[in-house]
Amino acid sequence: MATERALSCIQPTGTGQLHIGNYFGAIRNWVKLQDHFDCIYGVVDYHAITVEFDPANLQKQSIDVATDLIACGIDPQRSIVMIQSHIPEHVELCWIFNCVAAYGDVQRMTQFKDKSDQQAYVTVGLFDYPVLQAADILVYRARAVPVGSDQDQHLELTRGIAQKFNKRFGKVFPIPYTGGELRRKLNLKGARIVSPADPERKMSKSYGDKHCIGVMEDEKSIFKKIRSAVTDIGPAALNGEKSPGVANLFHLLELTAPTEVVEEFESQYRQGTLKYVRLKDAVHEHLMDELRPVRERKKELASDPELMKRILRDGADRARALASDTLSEVRRLLGVGSF
Ligand code: TRP
Repeated sequence: MATERALSCIQPTGTGQLHIGNYFGAIRNWVKLQDHFDCIYGVVDYHAITVEFDPANLQKQSIDVATDLIACGIDPQRSIVMIQSHIPEHVELCWIFNCVAAYGDVQRMTQFKDKSDQQAYVTVGLFDYPVLQAADILVYRARAVPVGSDQDQHLELTRGIAQKFNKRFGKVFPIPYTGGELRRKLNLKGARIVSPADPERKMSKSYGDKHCIGVMEDEKSIFKKIRSAVTDIGPAALNGEKSPGVANLFHLLELTAPTEVVEEFESQYRQGTLKYVRLKDAVHEHLMDELRPVRERKKELASDPELMKRILRDGADRARALASDTLSEVRRLLGVGSF
């Protein structure tokens, strides 16, 4: 039986450097998926140019994010790691999908509403962003798309485009799983890490540096951010219910430390004897143990730019072979393309 294909992508800008929210929330699952699917992981530079960006840095950032993915454990031999713009078929399929998707459906995307509110200048590309995302997925006929629930609406649009295309032109595309279906099927626990400085908000670069802990960040700086993480005045005051900041620290500990360690801290918490500074130091210690091999691999990979270029050229070649197959069929069904 052929293995199903999984695909996910990450932007090289906007979110900036990889943080532990991306790592625990997404990338760690992407690494695990390699045991169950043929995986493709992309750095979507054409999505990055939908808003203000710096052309002098974009290529460097794209390579840097691809390097981060491999450092985190994506194996470029088993999986395909690629930069979106290296495979022009994404954009060609996007145009075709523009002529399949309903304007009213794209107009309902709430991420566009949120993002366009933050822009002084709103491009057509930003509006079309979810259609390009559908092309990223369907150009490889992927079924599994491991993304957070914030992308569920885009995934629904993708499913709708695939259905409409198949019905009108011929059955080319498998219908990807819904976000919830895939998360249940794989029992993926999308760890939601919040900002240490404001635990009411999800960790995100867009709120500023103090809200994020970078996977490759200087250790002293990580230590400082964990030490100054917002907690509360103690378990007694809250009837034993953890405040979001304390829950976040426990969550990070669960993700990185052995069960006995977590249980010991839980028990101290329940007894009201827990000193948060000790919890923080344990979080720091176990987090660094988890990140150390990733950081070391990153250093090694970054010291050999030619190696990364070779990996990405190879990824693009393999991706392009799949994508051009899809496009040949699509062009034929539409009655377009050269002879
Ligand atoms: N929109 C996704 C995000 O913001 C990134 C993305 C672009 C993507 N193309 C994709 C994710 C294709 C999955 C599949 O996270």
